[in-house]
Amino acid sequence: MGSWNERFSQEAYVFGTEPAGFLKAHAAAIPKGASVLCVADGEGRNSVYLAELGYRVTAFDSAPAALEKARALARARGVEVAFHEAGIEGWDWSQRFDAVVGVFIQFVGPPEKARLLRRIGDAVADGGLVLLHGYHPRQRDEGYRSGGPGAVENLYTEAELRAVFAGFEVLEAREYDAELVEGEGHLGRSALVDFIARKR
Ligand SMILES: C[S@@+](CC[C@H](N)C(=O)[O-])C[C@H]1O[C@@H](n2cnc3c(N)ncnc32)[C@H](O)[C@@H]1O
Repeated sequence: MGSWNERFSQEAYVFGTEPAGFLKAHAAAIPKGASVLCVADGEGRNSVYLAELGYRVTAFDSAPAALEKARALARARGVEVAFHEAGIEGWDWSQRFDAVVGVFIQFVGPPEKARLLRRIGDAVADGGLVLLHGYHPRQRDEGYRSGGPGAVENLYTEAELRAVFAGFEVLEAREYDAELVEGEGHLGRSALVDFIARKR
């Protein structure tokens, strides 16, 4: 990931070292001691937080510079995360986890977007959870400049996620605006979508 890697090649954590507010609010939905996969985890703010809560966390991202910072964050916090350098195409999706977390992973548009979401659903063990948080298309429609990809087709609505995860029991689905303060990468008024569902 050329441009992402360059963006992460600075000392500061682009999205900060604190977890996404979404995860802070909803991590307790994940059963104690569960295995968790963090997809495109970046500099580790979310995976490290989950490891601090006692979960068995695996994370992958395609940007080596992000992984280096993620490993440093885990060391600094005294926790272990199984970090892997992998892209969504190279990841071994046959592995199953009690929860799969995708926070701001909107780097692909159709048809790859649907494929990625399906793979995430397949990676959830029976009875396990999918937790997704990202920008809603209104982020672009409203002209908010707080972050996210330029391509509106990469983003998703609650309805879209409900359709992809139709076989799941939806525990939380919300579209809303909020002020994000997450490093320099996500800063300001944002149109967001949260989605948590359990595989039946
Ligand atoms: C907006 S950042 C979010 C990072 C992290 N989830 C967070 O919330 O801090 C998007 C991440 O996707 C990663 N990424 C981009 N394309 C990818 C791909 N094809 N496979 C895996 N990761 C990718 C980038 O390196 C970056 O870390």
